[in-house]
Amino acid sequence: MEFIDLRSDTFTQPTVEMRKAMAEAECGDDVWDEDITVKHLEGLAAEKTGKDAAIFTASGTMSNLIAILTWCDRGTEIVVGDQAHIFWNEGGGVSALGGVSVRTVPNTPRGGMDPLDVEEAIRRQNITSMIGLENTHNRGSGGVLTMDETESIAKIGRAKGIPIHLDGARIFNASVALDVPVKDLCSPVDSVSFCLSKGLSAPIGSLLCGSKEFVDDARKWRKMVGGGMRQVGVIASAGLVALDTMVERLAEDHANATSLAKGLSDITGINLNTDLIESNIVIFEWMLGPTAEFIERLSQKGLKASYVGGQKIRMVTHVGISTWDIDRAIKIVGETANTPL
Ligand SMILES: Cc1ncc(COP(=O)(O)O)c(C=O)c1O
Repeated sequence: MEFIDLRSDTFTQPTVEMRKAMAEAECGDDVWDEDITVKHLEGLAAEKTGKDAAIFTASGTMSNLIAILTWCDRGTEIVVGDQAHIFWNEGGGVSALGGVSVRTVPNTPRGGMDPLDVEEAIRRQNITSMIGLENTHNRGSGGVLTMDETESIAKIGRAKGIPIHLDGARIFNASVALDVPVKDLCSPVDSVSFCLSKGLSAPIGSLLCGSKEFVDDARKWRKMVGGGMRQVGVIASAGLVALDTMVERLAEDHANATSLAKGLSDITGINLNTDLIESNIVIFEWMLGPTAEFIERLSQKGLKASYVGGQKIRMVTHVGISTWDIDRAIKIVGETANTPL
């Protein structure tokens, strides 16, 4: 059966142009600083995020971990939203590997945080060592943080001398959704990580960007977590194609997510606030039965979705999903919802 796969934008395949670039990539030993394709990608990432420097990593999780290891001493604490990817989905690396504890403050439904909550969560005596933001917000239905929202938290960090790290795994989605350059969205923060392997369709890779001093230090931590890679221009070359060719088209994914959300919200048994859908992630609640069983029934009809927790189901649009797929997905959900067990 041909599936409509809405589980995640991480299921995107490298494009033909990426595969060609990978075959032809100029490589060197990147641990020895001799891979010019990686250098090119790191330079471009720094330019796009408006930071001095960048370092290529294997994944978004690794980028966030390296940011934490770089900013935070053992025994300190970071402040993040209670729905943050760093808190939910990164294997607890912050504590297991960093010796750092996590203090959470409530996330709004679209992934923001109340500056008053953040301010209140900061401890005295230099215990709070980093504040983490996420844009777009994965568990927050792909909510997009505006520059003002980011600044409202960043200024608390600045006033107290606490660095702000932005988990910008999908920062290019945020940029396209707001029509604001990535570098403006990143200007209030001290470090930012972003992923090439999600909506941008590259097979592997993330970049961690910040000041030169921060990135020099991050290089040491990347080596320690086993993230020093050798002829890695082979994959960095796909990242260069991703940044060159796959950013503007994210608007199509956002339009598809909006249509999907609208269609789903009309189906009896589905609880979905369409106002929350700002990029390519649609999260809704299935109210008329067990969620896992509903996802399984969708899958039997050719539609894959992912389980978020409780009654929540997630569908993510990406380059592999057409408007036809969206219409079909809405139809499958409607038929499944209307079919008694
Ligand atoms: C917001 C966010 N941050 C970080 C990551 C981690 O990225 P990776 O899967 O490359 O480790 C993800 C992955 O889905 C994500 O959604």
